[in-house]
Amino acid sequence: MADINATNAGQFKFSDQFTVNRLGFGTMQLTGKGVWGPYADPDRAIAVIHRAIDLGVNFFDTADSYGPWYADRYLAAGLKGAANRDQLFISDKVGQTRQGPGLWVPLGAPHYLRQQVEVSLMTLGIDHEDLLFLHRVDSHYSIAEQVGELQKMKDEGKIRHIGLSQVTLDQVKEAQKYAHIDAIENMYNVADHHDDPLVDYAEDQHMAFVPWFPLNTGKLTGSDSPLEGIAQKYNVSPAQIALAWLLKRSPNILPIPGTSSLDHLADNIAAANVQLSDEDFDALSHLSK
Ligand SMILES: NC(=O)c1ccc[n+]([C@@H]2O[C@H](COP(=O)([O-])OP(=O)(O)OC[C@H]3O[C@@H](n4cnc5c(N)ncnc54)[C@H](OP(=O)(O)O)[C@@H]3O)[C@@H](O)[C@H]2O)c1
Repeated sequence: MADINATNAGQFKFSDQFTVNRLGFGTMQLTGKGVWGPYADPDRAIAVIHRAIDLGVNFFDTADSYGPWYADRYLAAGLKGAANRDQLFISDKVGQTRQGPGLWVPLGAPHYLRQQVEVSLMTLGIDHEDLLFLHRVDSHYSIAEQVGELQKMKDEGKIRHIGLSQVTLDQVKEAQKYAHIDAIENMYNVADHHDDPLVDYAEDQHMAFVPWFPLNTGKLTGSDSPLEGIAQKYNVSPAQIALAWLLKRSPNILPIPGTSSLDHLADNIAAANVQLSDEDFDALSHLSK
């Protein structure tokens, strides 16, 4: 059986040579219901991070709004003391406030974005953000104000790379006037890839494209998945087909499937070993609504 390791997914190199394995991990499942409160079994949450490291994951997507703060605490605990800690990277996000389960209200006030970065550096136990996304553009503030504040913090050494989350192509182009944009994180998966033009733009501009909901929140997994037929043909799980499609779609795509299950984690990382034929890739590409 092929080795299960995220390095098998290949690597993405940012323009300054910062390099990550293309199959990462998203921490949002390591919280309570509605992405609110602690995860029911904190030891397991930390065990999932440890196993991800063992499986070669070196790109962890998180945000203070997950919990809030709980996912960051588990991530910090899981990364702490890792033998290869200096080769493990975090992508973080600012610009969201939380009021309860399922409630998210963007806030792009520059002083709040700065506060979030400062508090996240403490929570995560790091001295700079490897990659920091503006989680949402807040229409109450200009893009110049929001991205400009991130650029100031980059100039101060608190942030290495700046990204934008859930944005339009026009917003990306506007933001590029105020900062070098290294990454986009938008909802994108084999069943919903209406953001194809953004993926193409990211590839053209040498930005990473981090698709959130890569498994369509789990709807692409399981025996009732629309990917079940092709999964049987390859003798793999539907989740692996969903991730293999993303990895083949563009060399700039860095999927970050989320799970609180050790078995699902290994299943997802094994997707790095699945090579879809061009014919099957094209057939799957027509699934999107
Ligand atoms: N930028 C943004 O606005 C934004 C928004 C949403 C999410 N995100 C990021 O994207 C990451 C991924 O999104 P997500 O976790 O919400 O959704 P997802 O990765 O599309 O799906 C996660 C769901 O699939 C299940 N699952 C995972 N692997 C599985 C497998 N191999 N077999 C069967 N079920 C499996 C999980 O349940 P189990 O726990 O039982 O495995 C969970 O219910 C998040 O963790 C977060 O970091 C970013």
